[in-house]
Amino acid sequence: MIYINQLANHVDQSVTLKGWVYNYRSSGSLVFIEMRDGTGLTQCVVAKDDVNEQAWEAATSLKQESSLEITGTVKADERSIGGHEIHVSDVQVIQIAEDYPITPKEHGVEFLMNNRHLWLRSQRQWAAMRVRNEIIFAIHTFFQDRGFMQMDSPIFTGNAAEGSTTLFETEFFEEPAYLAQTGQLYGEAMAMAHGLIYTFGPTFRAEKSKTRRHLSEFWMIEPEMAFYDLEMNMDLAEDMIRFIVKTVLDKRRAELGILERDVTKLEPLVEKPFIRMTYTEAVEILTSDATATMLDEMMESRKQEEKDLKQEREEIKKEHGSAKKWRKKQIEARQVEIGARLDQIEEDYRNIPQWKESAKNFEWGNDFGGSDETVLMMQYDVPLMVTHWPAEIKAFYMKRDESGKHALGVDVLAPEGYGEIIGGSQREDDLELMYERIEEEGLDKGVFEWYLDLRRFGTVPHAGYGLGLERTVAWICGLQHVRETIPFPRMMGRLTP
Ligand code: 4AD
Ligand code: MG
Repeated sequence: MIYINQLANHVDQSVTLKGWVYNYRSSGSLVFIEMRDGTGLTQCVVAKDDVNEQAWEAATSLKQESSLEITGTVKADERSIGGHEIHVSDVQVIQIAEDYPITPKEHGVEFLMNNRHLWLRSQRQWAAMRVRNEIIFAIHTFFQDRGFMQMDSPIFTGNAAEGSTTLFETEFFEEPAYLAQTGQLYGEAMAMAHGLIYTFGPTFRAEKSKTRRHLSEFWMIEPEMAFYDLEMNMDLAEDMIRFIVKTVLDKRRAELGILERDVTKLEPLVEKPFIRMTYTEAVEILTSDATATMLDEMMESRKQEEKDLKQEREEIKKEHGSAKKWRKKQIEARQVEIGARLDQIEEDYRNIPQWKESAKNFEWGNDFGGSDETVLMMQYDVPLMVTHWPAEIKAFYMKRDESGKHALGVDVLAPEGYGEIIGGSQREDDLELMYERIEEEGLDKGVFEWYLDLRRFGTVPHAGYGLGLERTVAWICGLQHVRETIPFPRMMGRLTP
C-alpha cells in the first residue's frame, strides 16, 4: 500500500491505495472517483472494459465517503488534481457509506459545525489542519534549536493571572479551582530553574464574547526567559513569527493554495522588519487627521468599485444569453465572485463610518478595540509591535518604566485585520513592587506566596510572551474565524461534537 502524496515516485507502476470516495461521477462505461486517503486527493478512472465484473459492480455501487481499496496504474497528468491519474484495474469496497450529510452544495456554518467530526474531511478543513500542524512543528523547532526547554504547566490552578472576569471555575476535591488562563506564572518559576523555557498547552477563558477571534479553549505558546528585557523579548517574538511564516511558505504552499490564500500578503514578512511603536504613538496615529482622511478615501474607492462591479454585472448578464457553454460557466463563476465582493462592500459601508468615529474619539488610557486594531493595521503589511501601555489596563505582573505610568508590555498585531496574536512583557522582578501590585489589584496574597518566592530567592530581570495558536493559524491561512483553526472548537454556544 502507498499513499497519494507518494504517487510521483510510482509513475507507470501499479499501486494499491486505501481511502474514501471524495467525489463520484459516472458516464456510461466510465466511472470517475476522486479518492482521498488523508495525504491528498487523486482521480481514479474505472473503464468497464478494463476491470472484471465484480470490480465494475463495486465501482458503480459507490457513494460519497464510501471506504475502499483501489489498484491501478499511476499516470502523470498535469490537468488532474495532484498531477496524477489512476487507471484502475481493481476496486474493493470496504463499506458503502450511508447518505453523507455534507454534499458538494453549500451548507450553513451551524450545520457544518454540528457536523464538525465529518466536516474535517473536506478539502479546506483538511488543508487548515495541515497548516496548523506545520505551525506547531515550526514553533517547537524554533525554540528547541535555540536551547529552550518545553515545559507543561498545570491546567487546574488556584488563582487568576489574567483577570478574574474570564475564569472558568471548577472544583478540586471540594476546593474551588480554576482552569488555567495562562501557564506564565509557572513558566517564570521554571525559567529560574532552566533559563529558557516555553509552554505549549491548552488555556481557558470564560469571556462571553462571540467574535471571530475568541475561543473558550485555545492553545498558547509561552516562552519565558531569564535575563531578558522587553527589547530582547520583542526580538525573539519577531524572529519566531518570521520563522513560522517562512516555514509554512516553504512547506505548505499546496495547502495555502487550497485555502486560496493570497501568499503575496505573507511574503513581505520573510524579509521586512516589523513595525515597533509605543502605545502613545499608536494613539496619535489612530486619532490623526491622516487616518480620518485614509478612511474617507477608502469609502470613496469602495463607491467607485461598486459602480464598476455593477456595470460589469450588467454587461456579462447580457452576454450570458447567447454565450457558448464554456463561457456561460465562466460568466456564472464571475457573477458569484461579484456578488460576494458586493456583499463585502456593503459591510464596509456599515463599518468604515464606525471605525472612523471610534478612531477619532479614542482616548489615551483605553484598550484598543477590534476596530481600532483593524484601522491601525490598514497602514502596514507586516506585524505591528505596540509597547509601553498605560499600566492600569495591563496585568499586575508587568514591570513599569521609570515614570511608573507605562507597563513594559508588548502586543503584536497581525496584518490584514487579524488583531492581537501575541501579548507579552518584561516582568516585575522587585519583591516590594510586586506586593504593591497584588494589593492594588485586590488579589488574594495567599495564593501568590509561591510566586513571590521567585522575587525573594535570586530574582533577575526576565521577560516572556504568549502566542495564541488559533489566531496565528487563522491569519496565516486567511480564515475568517478561529472556529476553523482547531479540530473541535470550544466557544460560547459550542460544546459538541
Ligand atoms: O494577551 P494574553 O492574555 O497574555 C497572556 O496570557 C500572558 N500570560 C502571556 C505571557 O506573557 N506569557 O494572551 C496571549 C495571546 C493573545 O495575544 C491571543 O493571541 C491569545 O493569547 N488569546 C486568545 N486566543 C483565542 N481566544 C481567546 N479567547 C484568547 N485570549 C487570548
Ligand atoms: Mg493580550
